[in-house]
Amino acid sequence: MISSHIKEKLQSGSLIRKMFEEGNKRKAIYGAENVFDFSIGNPDLEPPKEVKDALKAIVEEDVPGGHGYMSNSGYEATRAAIAKKRSEESSVTVDAGAVCMTVGAAAAMNDVFHSILDQGDEVILLAPFFMEYNNYIDNHGGVPVIVQTDDKFMPDVDAIIAAVTPKTKAIVINSPNNPSGVVYSEELLKSLNAALLKCDHVIHVISDEPYIELAYDGIKVPSALDCFDNLIICYSWSKALSLPGERIGYTLVSPKHADYEDLTAAIVLSNRTLGSVNAPAIWQKVVERALYAKVDVPNYEHRRNLLYANIVESGFEAVKPNGALYIFMKTPNGLSDSEFGEICAKHNLLLVPGASFSRPGYCRLAFCVSEQTIINSRKAFEAVAAELGLK
Ligand SMILES: Cc1ncc(COP(=O)(O)O)c(C=O)c1O
Repeated sequence: MISSHIKEKLQSGSLIRKMFEEGNKRKAIYGAENVFDFSIGNPDLEPPKEVKDALKAIVEEDVPGGHGYMSNSGYEATRAAIAKKRSEESSVTVDAGAVCMTVGAAAAMNDVFHSILDQGDEVILLAPFFMEYNNYIDNHGGVPVIVQTDDKFMPDVDAIIAAVTPKTKAIVINSPNNPSGVVYSEELLKSLNAALLKCDHVIHVISDEPYIELAYDGIKVPSALDCFDNLIICYSWSKALSLPGERIGYTLVSPKHADYEDLTAAIVLSNRTLGSVNAPAIWQKVVERALYAKVDVPNYEHRRNLLYANIVESGFEAVKPNGALYIFMKTPNGLSDSEFGEICAKHNLLLVPGASFSRPGYCRLAFCVSEQTIINSRKAFEAVAAELGLK
């Protein structure tokens, strides 16, 4: 017998997975070129050359013990290189001891929540947000508290502070954001920090950063180290180097954090006891050597431009994203997510409803699909717009 808790979760299922299956079914019927599946955010660019070069060299070097157990926080040299890069990118000097190598951002967040949450503790999430946060928090006895952002998907500092209770342990910040693609300004983040510091207990700021390298329009994503005091970064190379299947990332505790010593030790312990033990050895060495490389970001920007043009020129509304891999489009004519989703599906246009990100009235489109799919989808956007009388 499986646990009743997991049974409940199995029944609710993953909507994105269902969309994925629906997409495959439709591709078999109508042909792949006639189905416009914008539902899955799977980075489709190849990793940069530096990754493949590093991987080949590491295999050739064949260092004795290179596949053995190591410190649970990961290789010292890798952590030192990350600390150096983060120090260069901010006004804060970071030490290798602040960094713990993890199995992607998902494991990083689980390590952090395991380290900070007691049963019933609350974590503030800013909607719309990556739906897996709910599971990561629930895994460790926490309770998500959802605070809506404004109509441009920017955090509302007063609304956040109004949601703080004696049980609030943390807030999650994700910029560039999944699903809206918006980037929060340094000024806004600093004002949030000032407000959080006025609360009468420490509130951890968890900055989930898989998309910080994917920023467009010349925008520089502010360093969270410059903006927050009680900061824990969760980073991942899933998007920056297109390595989601390899599972590599890290946590980094700001030296300004009030609980720095306890937290750094707790996260390493959680990394071990939750079962990762340590991040994959070879991939730690690869990311150390390819630390300053990134995927072809202008390519994503080009596709963002094409998809955004399809949306707004067909008569729909969306905030233009400055980063990440998604556009979060408003459902037209006050239609519910599911009503709009059904109309789109008739035209083989597959999107994820906003309710999946705790923001109904919108839908997410991922632009990490082929350029040709985006170009071909124009007729589907126009057909949906015509059916709804938008133009
Ligand atoms: C906002 C956000 N956080 C975390 C993750 C998990 O990333 P990883 O592959 O590093 O576990 C994702 C994956 O898509 C994401 O979109």
